[in-house]
Amino acid sequence: MTKDEILSLEQIVYKNGRNNTVQVITALAEHFPGEAVLSTSFSMEDQVITHMVAANQLAVDIFTLDTGRLFPETYAVWSSTLERYGVKVNAYYPEADRLQKFIAEQGPNSFFAAVENRKTCCHIRKVEPLQRALKGRKLWITGIRAEHSQNRQDMTGLEWDEQNKLLKYHPLLYWTTDDVRAYIRTHKVPYNPLHDKGFVSIGCAPCTRAIQPGEDFRAGRWWWEEEGKKECGLHLHQ
Ligand code: ADX
Ligand code: SF4
Repeated sequence: MTKDEILSLEQIVYKNGRNNTVQVITALAEHFPGEAVLSTSFSMEDQVITHMVAANQLAVDIFTLDTGRLFPETYAVWSSTLERYGVKVNAYYPEADRLQKFIAEQGPNSFFAAVENRKTCCHIRKVEPLQRALKGRKLWITGIRAEHSQNRQDMTGLEWDEQNKLLKYHPLLYWTTDDVRAYIRTHKVPYNPLHDKGFVSIGCAPCTRAIQPGEDFRAGRWWWEEEGKKECGLHLHQ
């Protein structure tokens, strides 16, 4: 993709602005027919975007990475999303042989013992399946918000992902938690009830906990690890 092409797409994003998220997704999906995809972990943010895609019948495919270690509440909101919107959500799974070998060697919860194990687990359960999910795609839409983590503060709505060689678009990057909750309320979007129990950023069950008021949004993810080492490899932001 050339710099000029990226610049012209940036124009679409900036011209429409944050209040016209649907128009931006529509324009980008039209620019990349059959090549635009939304990743969902069924977080509130992903649910907002799924609602926009479904309600406006946008040509965006949806996928999730089922790590096998998600919360029961996450599977429940996955089901209620299918019922509510009738959308198709493609689920990607870890490679069985790699996972079987890793668990046989290290046990089921080795991520608590060493960062290396945690990274291997995230690689097998998320990063490798992500690569399959993104194959043949040119635009990857995510529910990332700047508020969620320190190193997401300086991101741009539209960015080139060198690792996966495609464009990423984060439509809710500058939305606040209140914006997201208000949208969910107004449109009666189904959401993960863990968000009402102190869970802000929700990943795999063993690696996510609720946070206390005032704590960093990301404090509930891999909480036993040092700050700064806590990305799982899905979003490598330079
Ligand atoms: S992570 O890097 O820490 O795991 P985070 O939970 O902040 O990511 O979610 C950011 C975005 O990554 C989500 O809005 C979603 O687009 C994508 N994402 C995260 N986890 C998954 C998953 N299990 N399946 C599909 N997409 C995911
Ligand atoms: Fe494994 Fe935890 Fe990473 Fe999920 S978040 S893939 S359980 S280490």
